[in-house]
Parts: sequence; structure tokens; C-alpha cells
Amino acid sequence: MTKPPRIGVVGSSNVDVVTYVERMPVWGETIAAPRFEMSFGGKGANQAVAAAKLGAEVVMVSKVGADLLGANVLENFAALGVDTRHVGRVENQTTGTATILVNPAGENFILIVKGANGDLSRADVEAAGDDLAACDLILLQLEVPLDTVYAALEFGKRRGVRTVLNPAPALRTLDPAKVRLASFVAPNETELAILTGLPVESEDDVAAAAKRLLAEGIETVIVTLGARGSLLATPEGLKRIPPVKVEAVDTTGAGDAFIGSFARYFAGGLGLEAALARATRYAADSVTKRGAQKSFATEAEFERL
Ligand code: RIB
Repeated sequence: MTKPPRIGVVGSSNVDVVTYVERMPVWGETIAAPRFEMSFGGKGANQAVAAAKLGAEVVMVSKVGADLLGANVLENFAALGVDTRHVGRVENQTTGTATILVNPAGENFILIVKGANGDLSRADVEAAGDDLAACDLILLQLEVPLDTVYAALEFGKRRGVRTVLNPAPALRTLDPAKVRLASFVAPNETELAILTGLPVESEDDVAAAAKRLLAEGIETVIVTLGARGSLLATPEGLKRIPPVKVEAVDTTGAGDAFIGSFARYFAGGLGLEAALARATRYAADSVTKRGAQKSFATEAEFERL
């Protein structure tokens, strides 16, 4: 049997508090909603769990509160086989939460309280150095302090470990010189517009913005386009990865399913396009079910699809 790929994630862990609404309320309005759920989320944790469910060995570098939610997050990671030796607990701090409203089209609004995620530091990345250095890929998002993300990008460059930067949620203060340290940059359209300052209204706009990132020195750009698939941009050219059409119930965490599964398959030896095609199918399957991590298929479930 071949060795499973090893993925490191330096990122957030949240508990998602999700209300499914028939329509979004307006300011000052009280409405009844048909359904409520609490589940595990956070962009970092979601990407870690997607990769782990698909059979990767995953080491998570994260922070949770010394509260009940934090204990639950750790139990969830352990149950899914995610290595939690570098998930710290912060006294007098809450575990990160995301309050989410999902409409009948599966679209969402998300309000984040960073909590302990805000305490993940450069020193935590260094402390996990031996384990991160043994990874095939390190995944990064922007729900932890930017300096921590930069530390992980610098670490990857210094130690020869490839990194995937998913610049989500969109932030205007990213340092382009640090972004260039990433081996892969994987924005959605909004994030691409913010990274480049260019419009992304049409397919041509998106292609031009992706090319701008390449021209600025980024090796590989993967633009996620939701129900329209994705765009792979490398110095060899642009390639559209077509979507897999499904009926969306809840799109929360779909981007994370995409990145986590891409990482697992790419680090597992598939070529870029093949890994992206698989990630597209995996993310599409996730939107047919409610929640973030709980909508992610296991390897056996995914192979049956
Ligand atoms: O990307 C989806 C995630 O964003 C949710 O799980 C929520 O926790 C927020 O971080």
C-alpha cells in the first residue's frame, strides 16, 4: 500500500451555529426559521477534516478556548484521526464561532467571532516546525492573525514544503510580497478582485486577473468559481475545470471541501488537473448536504459516487 499523503493545516477551528431560514430577515424584523444546527467548522479545520476523511495524515496547528466548545472541537478532530498535538487551549478565551444563516438556495451569511483563533501565533508555527516540515503540503487561510499566516508561508519557503494559500475570508491588507511565497494561491472571485484590484465581472476579467497574479510571481493560481467550476492558471497557460452540476442545499464549507480534497489528491500523486477535477466533484457532493464538515464524504463514500 502507498503511504498516505501528509497535510499540515495552520488555521482556524470554529463551532458553527447555523439557522436555516426561508428568507433573510431585514433590520429590526423578527422571523421564525424552520431549522437550527450546531456543527464543527472553521476554514482551517474544515480543510483539515476534508483531507483526513479522504485518508490523508493531517496535522492541525490551531487554538481553541479552554471551554466546552474547545473540548468538543478536540474530540471531533481525534475521532476523525486529525493530529491535535499542536492544537492549543487558551484560558479565558472562547472557542471561535461562526453564526450562519442559510437560505433555501443554500447560500449563506457568516458572522465570525475569532476567539482563540486570534491567539494562534508565529511561535505556534515554529513549535510545530518538525511536524510541518514532514508534510507534503501546508494549507493556510485568513481566519487566524496575518502574521501567523506569513510565518507559515516563510516556513514553507525556508524548509522546502509547498504551501496553499486560500485567501479567505477576503482581506484588503494582505502583503503581496508574502502572498508570493505561496506555491498555490486559491482565491474565489471576490478574493481575486481584492488581491489584484481588477474587475472579475466576466470570464475574460477573471482570466486577466489570474494572469496578473502569475505576472506578479505566483507559481500557480486556482480560482474557484462556485457553480461555474474553477480556473487553473500556470505559466504554461489557463485551463478551465468544468463544474459538476448538483442541487445545492447548503454551500457552507464547499470552498474548504475543494481545497482539502485538492490537497489530499495532489499530495497523493495526482496531477494538478486530475486533482482539481476530483476536488470539484468532492465539493459538489458537499453542497448537497447540510453543514460544513458533516457534509464531507469519507474516502469510501466518495469512491462510491
Ligand atoms: O468556510 C466555511 C466556514 O467559514 C464555516 O465553517 C465557518 O466556521 C467559517 O469559518
